[in-house]
Amino acid sequence: MRVGVLTGGGDCPGLNAVIRAVVRKGTSQYGFEFVGFRDGWKGPLEGLTSPLGIADVRGILPRGGTILGSSRTNPIKIDGGVDKIKANLADLGVDALIAIGGEDTLGVATQLHALDVPVVGVPKTIDNDLSATDYTFGFDTAVNIASEAIDRLHTTAESHQRALVVEVMGRHAGWIALHAGISGGANVILIPEIPFDLDEVIGWVESRFESHYAPILVVAEGALPKDGSLMTKDASLDAFGHVKLSGIGDWLAGQIEARTGKEARTSVLGHIQRGGTPTAFDRVLATRFGLQAIDAVHDKDFGVMVALRGTDIIRVPLLEATGSLKTVPQWRYDEVRTFFG
Ligand code: F6P
Repeated sequence: MRVGVLTGGGDCPGLNAVIRAVVRKGTSQYGFEFVGFRDGWKGPLEGLTSPLGIADVRGILPRGGTILGSSRTNPIKIDGGVDKIKANLADLGVDALIAIGGEDTLGVATQLHALDVPVVGVPKTIDNDLSATDYTFGFDTAVNIASEAIDRLHTTAESHQRALVVEVMGRHAGWIALHAGISGGANVILIPEIPFDLDEVIGWVESRFESHYAPILVVAEGALPKDGSLMTKDASLDAFGHVKLSGIGDWLAGQIEARTGKEARTSVLGHIQRGGTPTAFDRVLATRFGLQAIDAVHDKDFGVMVALRGTDIIRVPLLEATGSLKTVPQWRYDEVRTFFG
């Protein structure tokens, strides 16, 4: 069997660990051959490939990014895109595809499977917002990076009696903000799922200063005030219709300065959260996902995504995984309000 592998969407620590596990088990246990598709769905769409054998995956386990490259190409939006993919897979003799991606990449996989493309999905995203899996790999790394940043910001905030706002990634889901905020001991956590009341936030900031501690506010890039709207960089949309978010952290710092008279600064962590080596947890999860994905291919169990349920790796229909986003429920947010202010 000849198996194509691609990584799509925003990169994520652990992608290379999945690729390595897929190739190592597929080659040694099943005698499969592999084709690496370059740059997400652009690869099968345009027939862009790179060699993918045991030698190509040597040493990549701890490496961030993806050796296959990534993009946000959406073949469904391109005229004749699906037919081009089918023709390229046939020309290259590819019998099955493993697509490693988030909601967008796996959304495409779901649609292609409905059109008879044999595909198995592997969930990745630092945002942890894919349904049907307890965790996606990359999330633990992002949370650890953000948490370490918050630890560092506490000491400088206290030295200067400033409010420090930390803007983290999370367009629609506040998982990174929630977990990094809890682990870093933030005084305010703001997430996209629950629009915030600015007066209440200012109250928390003031009470923190009154107790002679400097407040740290963790805000997800997609958080927004009640009656406000998302803050975007510009009006452009990517191929999946997403805006570029930017500015909530600076806006919040401006409001704090204007309303409390205290100094406030913002640190936007941005792509630092996505770069570099995966944590041990993410390496293990990504490796287990890869091992199970190649088993699904061997079983010809297509149209599924591998998923973490408890400590088990299971298979779920792709449709179940991509139907709706997994967002932070109100009760998880209410749980941490004890620490606000
Ligand atoms: O989906 C992962 C993610 O990192 C989001 O948290 C973020 O909004 C987005 O990607 C940023 O995308 P890009 O790197 O294309 O700007």
